[in-house]
Amino acid sequence: MLGNSTSEENANNVAIVIGANSKIAISLIKRLGNDESFTEIVTIGRQFSDNVETGFSNKVSRFNCDYAEASIREICEQLKVHKGQISRVFICNGILHDTQFQPEKRIEDVTAENLHKVFEVNAIIPMLWIKYLKPVLANEQGCLVTVFSARIGSIEDNRKGGWYAYRGSKAALNMLLKTAAIEYERVLKGTRFLVFHPGTTDTPLSKPFQKYVSQNKLFKPEFVTDQLLALIERDSLTDDNIQFLGWDGNEIPW
Ligand SMILES: NC(=O)c1ccc[n+]([C@@H]2O[C@H](COP(=O)([O-])OP(=O)(O)OC[C@H]3O[C@@H](n4cnc5c(N)ncnc54)[C@H](OP(=O)(O)O)[C@@H]3O)[C@@H](O)[C@H]2O)c1
Repeated sequence: MLGNSTSEENANNVAIVIGANSKIAISLIKRLGNDESFTEIVTIGRQFSDNVETGFSNKVSRFNCDYAEASIREICEQLKVHKGQISRVFICNGILHDTQFQPEKRIEDVTAENLHKVFEVNAIIPMLWIKYLKPVLANEQGCLVTVFSARIGSIEDNRKGGWYAYRGSKAALNMLLKTAAIEYERVLKGTRFLVFHPGTTDTPLSKPFQKYVSQNKLFKPEFVTDQLLALIERDSLTDDNIQFLGWDGNEIPW
């Protein structure tokens, strides 16, 4: 099993959840908050609504972040107080559509503006966290960094085409992570990466497309969270310092 930093009883054991307003992240934060082995859950998001029921607020700290590079660097500076205590990082950011754009059905729908926007959220922002977390994770003995990707980012698995920006940005994310994992392994042996596909999950991201999915294939965020945590805890990860896995624990071709 991936070790965590709680070798001594009562030692601090910290999880960091970035993109904390994602529906999957909210469920994850609840689970982590109820897990006694974690002493603090650091959550990071663009803004927080007090309406989101946490139920464990004494263990959860919040950072507002606009995800500009300077803001990410600044928060990572502050996170250095947790050096040697962080066993889990989850990066949950992702965008598929918004009020201005929908995923492209055909090549004529591709625009530079949408490509930039989707690559920014899905690939660039997660990569900046990986960059600035490096000194924060420097002392970690067994930290797992889970980044939410998507099966659709698999180049080999691309049979249907379409969804250029989302597909391309997740493929770019995967390559950035694989490249970072090689460098991390060279210099920070204690940190490993899980590139995770949650399956189609009932969140705002998938909302417009849920009608195409049969009910038994549309997961609740709580189910996906349980799958992910079980996958991490049941020692099913190999010794590779990066893996691309689905919610069912099966490997996805890069
Ligand atoms: N739902 C699915 O069916 C599905 C399938 C495959 C993969 N995924 C992946 O799973 C992850 C979690 O998604 P979800 O389904 O939980 O979606 P969600 O509830 O819609 O959450 C969206 C997430 O993306 C972030 N985000 C949205 N717009 C952003 C922007 N302009 N700049 C920076 N961050 C932005 C949010 O950050 P804040 O917390 O800061 O607001 C939040 O973390 C994503 O990476 C997604 O691609 C989801």
